[in-house]
Amino acid sequence: MSTFVEKARSQFPSLASGYIFADNAGGSQCAKIVVDRISDYLLNTNVQLGADYSVSVESTQRVASASVSAAKLFNAASPDEVAFASSSTQAAENLARALENDIQEGDELIVTGEHEANAGGWKKLAVRRGATVKFWHARQSESAPNNPYSVCLSVDDLIPLITSKTRIVAFTACSNILGSIVPVKDVIKAARTKASEVGIRKIEFSVDCVAYAPHRQIDVQGWDVDYCFFSFYKVYGPHVSGVYARAASLKSSLTALTHHFLDVDSISYKIQPGGPGYETTYGTTGVLDYLLSLTPSNDLAASFKAIAEHEQTLLGPLLAFLRSQEPRGVRIVGDEQAGLSRVPTVSFVVTGERALRSQDVVKTFDQKGGIGIRYGHFYAYSLVDNLTPKLDIVDAVVRISLVHYNTVEEVEKIIAILKEVLG
Ligand SMILES: Cc1ncc(COP(=O)(O)O)c(C=O)c1O
Repeated sequence: MSTFVEKARSQFPSLASGYIFADNAGGSQCAKIVVDRISDYLLNTNVQLGADYSVSVESTQRVASASVSAAKLFNAASPDEVAFASSSTQAAENLARALENDIQEGDELIVTGEHEANAGGWKKLAVRRGATVKFWHARQSESAPNNPYSVCLSVDDLIPLITSKTRIVAFTACSNILGSIVPVKDVIKAARTKASEVGIRKIEFSVDCVAYAPHRQIDVQGWDVDYCFFSFYKVYGPHVSGVYARAASLKSSLTALTHHFLDVDSISYKIQPGGPGYETTYGTTGVLDYLLSLTPSNDLAASFKAIAEHEQTLLGPLLAFLRSQEPRGVRIVGDEQAGLSRVPTVSFVVTGERALRSQDVVKTFDQKGGIGIRYGHFYAYSLVDNLTPKLDIVDAVVRISLVHYNTVEEVEKIIAILKEVLG
């Protein structure tokens, strides 16, 4: 085991049991530093924020420090552009609600078939405001023309959808099923160019970084994004989500969700209708510190580089094994090749004469014990529903999702069980 992985693993007490956590896209393990901060908050500073007595001053500072650290994770220009929600689904719904007054009848909202969190709220908003929803669907990957389940989002399909009426484009930075990374910066640049050609009143982009944030560094400024969110419980932290709204959008697009007598110009009140869970919000500060601790330079970019490099050593053998099972009927759902445009979230189905249900593949893993993987559509319902040949929407795909604290030895064990399952 490399020193990088050893160091990472040592910060997760749950990994000492040897259990193989391979459902990380569902939820990662929580770093000890995060748990220590939550515990410290509850044991020592658990009072209401905003009062002048000393403990309240400290708890107020602690919760405020979470915006500072989340701003670094987003690469936001200011902590004033960051708020929190109980989940990313809630964060996206809050955004859609806050945007309601700035959506006009006939506006067009573009969504993807990826996780419903960044689609459902916009679809419901469209119904409320008489706007139209358009779908940016995944298409067959050029790199695997013979595998109908090797699909990806292509900017070439987005651009023709943009008209003078487009108001919102909502998409994922990384698919929680396909594992493929969308080139966010290029997509937004191309879409803004088209928008200025067709003369749009106002176009804004909402990017779901939930499946992206555990593997790569977010850059809302570099990407030129208006709204962005991710869930800390998938990034080695607690159940709380961070949400970014660009200062200009806060000012001109969003209407406050909170009480009329509060500071409606502050982001935390604009898109955060009530207080966040104080202890978990403070706990999120441990996520940044954990990530920074992974490399000697204490630099986020270096940490994510090391994470991405190690994750490729997990992804390569797993994909190679699944590709070798193509004659057995195994079809990778997503990009078949390893590479930096892909994270180690690997989905597949077993088709053909000796087809296996996804739930039966997972059952064998459950019976063996000591390892957690999962099957289903993982709320990327429309993506799975649109695959052809059609899959049973409930049985859907088997997903093995790894992160940087997984080891090559664990991948070897997973492959050994897969060999048994496939016979
Ligand atoms: C890509 C993606 N977006 C959004 C979500 C929803 O996140 P939350 O559970 O915090 O609502 C998930 C959860 O799995 C996800 O994978």
